[in-house]
Amino acid sequence: PAAAYAEQYRPQLHFSPAQHWMNDPNGMVYFNHTYHLFFQYYPKDIVWGPMHWGHAVSKDLIHWKQLPIALYPDSLGYIFSGSAVVDSGNTSGFGKNGKIPMVAIFTHHDPKREAERHEDFENQSIAFSLDSGATWTKYANNPVLKNPGIRDFRDPKVMWYTAEKKWIMTLATQDHISFYSAPDLKNWKKESEFGFKTGAHGGVWECPDLFSLKMAGKTYWILVVNLNPGGPNGGSATQYFVGDFDGSKFTPIDSSTKWLDYGPDEYAGITWSNTGDRKIFLGWMSNWQYANQVPTQAWRNAATIPRELRLKQSNQGIVLASAPVPELTKINRGVSVSKNVMVNKTLDLSTKVGKLKSQYVLKLSMAQLKAYTLKLSNKKGEELLIGYDAIKNQYFIDRTKSGKTDFQKDFSGRFMAPRLTAAKNSDITIVVDKSSVELFADGGLTTMTAVYFPDGDYTGLTLNADSNIKVDSIVVTALKSIWQ
Ligand code: FRU
Repeated sequence: PAAAYAEQYRPQLHFSPAQHWMNDPNGMVYFNHTYHLFFQYYPKDIVWGPMHWGHAVSKDLIHWKQLPIALYPDSLGYIFSGSAVVDSGNTSGFGKNGKIPMVAIFTHHDPKREAERHEDFENQSIAFSLDSGATWTKYANNPVLKNPGIRDFRDPKVMWYTAEKKWIMTLATQDHISFYSAPDLKNWKKESEFGFKTGAHGGVWECPDLFSLKMAGKTYWILVVNLNPGGPNGGSATQYFVGDFDGSKFTPIDSSTKWLDYGPDEYAGITWSNTGDRKIFLGWMSNWQYANQVPTQAWRNAATIPRELRLKQSNQGIVLASAPVPELTKINRGVSVSKNVMVNKTLDLSTKVGKLKSQYVLKLSMAQLKAYTLKLSNKKGEELLIGYDAIKNQYFIDRTKSGKTDFQKDFSGRFMAPRLTAAKNSDITIVVDKSSVELFADGGLTTMTAVYFPDGDYTGLTLNADSNIKVDSIVVTALKSIWQ
């Protein structure tokens, strides 16, 4: 496969389909020591079209193998986003001869009824697999949850609610969330609604998620709600709420709007199911503002790095902190460490950590945070700026001179994200791939993702500051391609 993944801009650390269009990650589920990733896929073009569920698997969340398409559109419509579960108790009755069913719960989007201006063109359906996701059978009595007349009625995320031994479906219903429950994944009953007056409402609510995480011995429930448009830097983005869920109702502990990723290019992110206490998040690394126009040719768009989520205290209360999954170390090619680095105006980091290739992780730590800018550049004079603005107390990514930017008017720009702690010390980790960067600041309290399309790899790296600054440590880990 190496040759097929060698095109200009092709992500070398991130999943992207060998060919054609992808958007949201779907149905992520861990089963039989395998991580499954399904995704919104149009196998005929590099623009959005009639949706299928593409399929890929991984043993380590890093190396992916693309498999045949899992779900095709049918007479009920396109296969929109949704989730998958392992039905260990065979509540659905799909299991046979002791085989545990994997069940996918997705939205059937009927383009005909949409064109005829009916309001009920999105309904929830299910399909099952008895061979670890290799082949799928759609349920004969689909849809299992009929639309009551809401135009946007989609993206079911289903989880097992152990305390009451029932399935909970979290569904995006236009400008709020609707919770449903079922004993068997088939007979759904409405439990409650949330969000009419809470959170960001600059666009439609899509792709929700609901899961619990512990902090200091206490359990919190997190409700993730993707939003398009209306993100903090324009277009699509992922907001979330921290609160409590009692099996029927979600109650947030505060009403502030929190963002899981402030950058322009993380969307539709949700977590894997069946991973126990570990919560692994994956997003689509694009933005609906220009997803159909980015200048790739064989494929369009990719997934983010899988991220582990944790709860932490911040100056916005309890928030989700993100970190690249530690499995990323599987593709280490070598580590360079430089301690107590003094920077006066500008420093070529290759003098400290050696020559860079186009894929690496850089971690920079300062005991005393001051303003700085990392400049990634190539031989064509294109550059990407990443740093901290001390006056605004914000992190930033600036891609105005990063290469091709003129394919859509919103692409070029400088994107800002608040710092969420008052600590004196600071660290940032950036994951750099051929055409993307993901920034995790202050132990992952602030996260930003941005894509870019340079005419040549960014192998240059300088650290710049207005005054003298001291960087306590710089660690660069060179990474191999996941396709090798
Ligand atoms: C989010 C989304 C979902 C929908 C899917 C269609 O990006 O709009 O709400 O199910 O994409 O491809």
